[in-house]
Amino acid sequence: MRRKIIVGNWKMNHDLAETEMFLVDLKKQVFPENVEVMIAPPFTSLNHTFRSLREHPVTIVAQNMHQSIEGAFTGEISAKMLKSVGATTVIIGHSERRTYFNENSAVLAEKVNTALENEMNVIFCIGEELDDRKKDNHFQQIKSQILEGLFHLPNDAWDNVTIAYEPVWAIGTGETASAEQAQEMHQYIRKIIAENYSDKIADSILILYGGSVKPENAAEIFGQPDVDGGLIGGASLQVEDFMKIVNAFE
Ligand code: G3P
Repeated sequence: MRRKIIVGNWKMNHDLAETEMFLVDLKKQVFPENVEVMIAPPFTSLNHTFRSLREHPVTIVAQNMHQSIEGAFTGEISAKMLKSVGATTVIIGHSERRTYFNENSAVLAEKVNTALENEMNVIFCIGEELDDRKKDNHFQQIKSQILEGLFHLPNDAWDNVTIAYEPVWAIGTGETASAEQAQEMHQYIRKIIAENYSDKIADSILILYGGSVKPENAAEIFGQPDVDGGLIGGASLQVEDFMKIVNAFE
């Protein structure tokens, strides 16, 4: 039985004061014991969130990191710095990083290596564009992203990797993938991992769905056999909706 995980990806939202208001409300909530809950605040709120949630079950995720561990990279943030402020997991390969910041598969594979070498867990994002799906090229696109970003890893590295399938056409659009579409792709992801590694790794890896998950659609998506939780954007910014999604598992 795989764990269930909900991750709130705040993206570029919530300054320090808004973060504190969120955390005050979050700490009043009662959390289900069978769901791991993580939040990914902006870098500027990481240290405050770390201190605020020190004894709390919600853990912290970084939204990105540089592939080098230190050096002359103005404006960048390293795995070492993220760990110093309590980020135990890092999101790599989000479509917004791939699109807006030109992070190609080679850079993403380097980031995965650096995160794992520094004992951080990785949430690796993949997802096809609408054009890929219209041309029935979405499976090939997903296979390429996983192959180029992760298939260099040794078997034992997979314990620290979670995959997030986020169809780009569903991100921030309100156009959620259907539960059947999510299940179909998650099942395919497990299939190619089994073919390239083992059934054991394929069966145990957690695969999250992301892309317009809302309180009203979460239960159906999370009810799919190969969906192990969600990577939530907009609906994670307010505690009330975020908790409805956290509690959406049947
Ligand atoms: O990383 C999660 C994000 O890309 C999904 O965003 O707003 O569609 O839930 P949203």
